[in-house]
Amino acid sequence: MLQRPNPSTSRLSTLFTLCLLCFYSAFCPLAAQADESATPAGIDSDLVLSTRGIAGQLLNQLGQKLKAAMSADGPIAAVSVCKEAAPAIAKSLSAEHGVLITRVGTRVRNSNMGVPNAWQKEALAKFEARMAQGEKPADLEYWQVVDTGNGKRELHYAKAIAAQPQCLACHGQPQDIAAPLAEKIKLEYPNDEAVGYIVGKLRGAVVVTKPL
Ligand code: HEC
Repeated sequence: MLQRPNPSTSRLSTLFTLCLLCFYSAFCPLAAQADESATPAGIDSDLVLSTRGIAGQLLNQLGQKLKAAMSADGPIAAVSVCKEAAPAIAKSLSAEHGVLITRVGTRVRNSNMGVPNAWQKEALAKFEARMAQGEKPADLEYWQVVDTGNGKRELHYAKAIAAQPQCLACHGQPQDIAAPLAEKIKLEYPNDEAVGYIVGKLRGAVVVTKPL
């Protein structure tokens, strides 16, 4: 005679499987977020976690500075804060963690610092493609260990940055940017291309290069 599974046992085992799945997705964000083709065997997940942390610090510190400057002195003064604070924060985090960290744009305001190199362009293209598939920009990151010759290797890491409502004062549609602010931006950045963004679209990435 065929034995029917005990319903309470089978419910328990379903629960157990669900728990395992939850545990896996909660504690294995690397598996969930990494672009698998870019995750070479043997990459140390601690390394990626700490690099992600450094990228997060840049976004937090700069976000706080920008917010404070915008509400204290308004967007025109905040342009100068951005101009000084962004490179200063990047420099101090780079020195503190022995990495090179910066921001790059899909279109660029600061043509000295913000232009993506070939690897960073590839990362941005992957983010665009994944967003077109419905993935949220906040979850997107991409990394690779790159051989730089002479037996040296570097971790290349990128974290997507999406345009948010508070960014549009300075990166929104040109006709929506207040005239005095637009003039200030033009004065500081005559080759500015970083306008025309809408909320939720890819603005750029925080990129970290770490010698291994
Ligand atoms: C007060 C105006 C202002 C606001 C608001 C603003 N930015 Fe910018 N943004 C700038 C300036 C100025 C630069 C150039 C900074 C520099 O010289 O490094 C810049 C540069 C950038 C860059 C680096 C790439 C490039 O184009 O040079 C990124 C990425 C960026 N901004 C994203 C954002 C995001 C995301 C927000 C919203 C959270 C935002 N910005 C809000 C003024 C602003």
